[in-house]
Amino acid sequence: MRMLFMRCLQASVLAGLTLPAVMQAESDPATIFKTNCVLCHSANGSGESSAGKALHAKDLRSPEIQKQSDEDLVAAITKGKGKMPSFGAKIKPDDMKKLVAYIRELPKK
Ligand code: HEC
Repeated sequence: MRMLFMRCLQASVLAGLTLPAVMQAESDPATIFKTNCVLCHSANGSGESSAGKALHAKDLRSPEIQKQSDEDLVAAITKGKGKMPSFGAKIKPDDMKKLVAYIRELPKK
């Protein structure tokens, strides 16, 4: 068991992660989205929540967003944009990529 843990730890260090694998439970993109983004962007990405409407959050399913590159989207989420706060300190780069992949799935839902 201990060996296994050490292996996971080693693997995640190799993958450039700062936290051990045992603490990665929250890296599920759906959970990250729910915890950090739904308030303004709604569960379906529409931005029709009251906070989203008040702040003019973008519809994440719209062509305007979807046509941007992954790098553009990661940059916007990392640095924030307009009234959107920055998430660079909160979401790890690896999770950021998964989150963008999750946003890509929203129009298909
Ligand atoms: C406090 C409300 C708020 C929260 C929380 C929030 N956003 Fe936003 N988001 C906005 C607003 C407002 C905009 C429109 C910004 C603008 O273009 O002025 C936006 C825009 C965006 C854009 C489009 C950026 C662009 O280049 O046009 C993306 C992508 C995005 N948000 C993703 C996310 C993700 C992912 C999260 C969660 C990690 C998140 N947002 C959390 C309010 C929020």
